[in-house]
Amino acid sequence: RNLLSKRTDLSGKRIIVTAGPTVEPLDPVRFISNHSSGIQGYAVADALAQHGADVRLISGPVSLSPPANVTCIHVRTAEDMKAACLEQLPADAAICVAAVSDWRPDVAYASKMKKSGDGIPPVLKLVENPDILATLSRHDQRPTLVVGFAAETDDLRKHAEQKRLRKGCDWLLANDVTKHRFGGKRNQVLFLTGDETEAWPEMDKPSLAHRLADRVAQFFQARV
Ligand code: CTP
Ligand code: CA
Repeated sequence: RNLLSKRTDLSGKRIIVTAGPTVEPLDPVRFISNHSSGIQGYAVADALAQHGADVRLISGPVSLSPPANVTCIHVRTAEDMKAACLEQLPADAAICVAAVSDWRPDVAYASKMKKSGDGIPPVLKLVENPDILATLSRHDQRPTLVVGFAAETDDLRKHAEQKRLRKGCDWLLANDVTKHRFGGKRNQVLFLTGDETEAWPEMDKPSLAHRLADRVAQFFQARV
């Protein structure tokens, strides 16, 4: 996109985008995490920036370069991702694309765990991580528009509707992860706003990001 075609309909809007996985340490050399390439979240950040938004990309570890004209804050754990998001408030919108680890080991050992020698493996105890999307949705300084993504394996529409209500977000984009392998270049979602549910066609991730960014821009334009 050249400068002449640059859009400005989201200029002055601060938008938080989370992307990538979180990693939850067990000790200095081990962690648990989720599959996530970060491609979709980075594409969303890029598309919003192309509309002129002030994008704060809060990213877990991925092998991508931050898009141009985006402020990128690198984090590792869910707790750090949550803190980094809250530091960006007040914001106009938050779009949570990150694959946040639902659990973390209850203790992150300072020293490497060693095998016991008797062949008995350790038993991990997990604790639940904070829900960043739900936290933003119910915050005193709630962004005007809060959007989540959901990866489901069955009963897409039902699980997505329940999840949108449970999270308290405005919009939810839900995809069937059995149809689109992790790290793939394409995506297909159900777009739920509460008023309506649209089945978007399969498209590449940048196209999906631009379609979402256009909707975000329309949302803010309808409010003025
Ligand atoms: N999310 C989040 N913080 C978490 C978990 C999820 O912000 N601790 C966000 C994700 O970024 C995504 C949305 O919530 O936008 C849905 O994530 P998902 O894993 O599908 O939802 P969960 O509530 O964790 O439900 P599930 O048990 O199906 O994993
Ligand atoms: Ca989850």
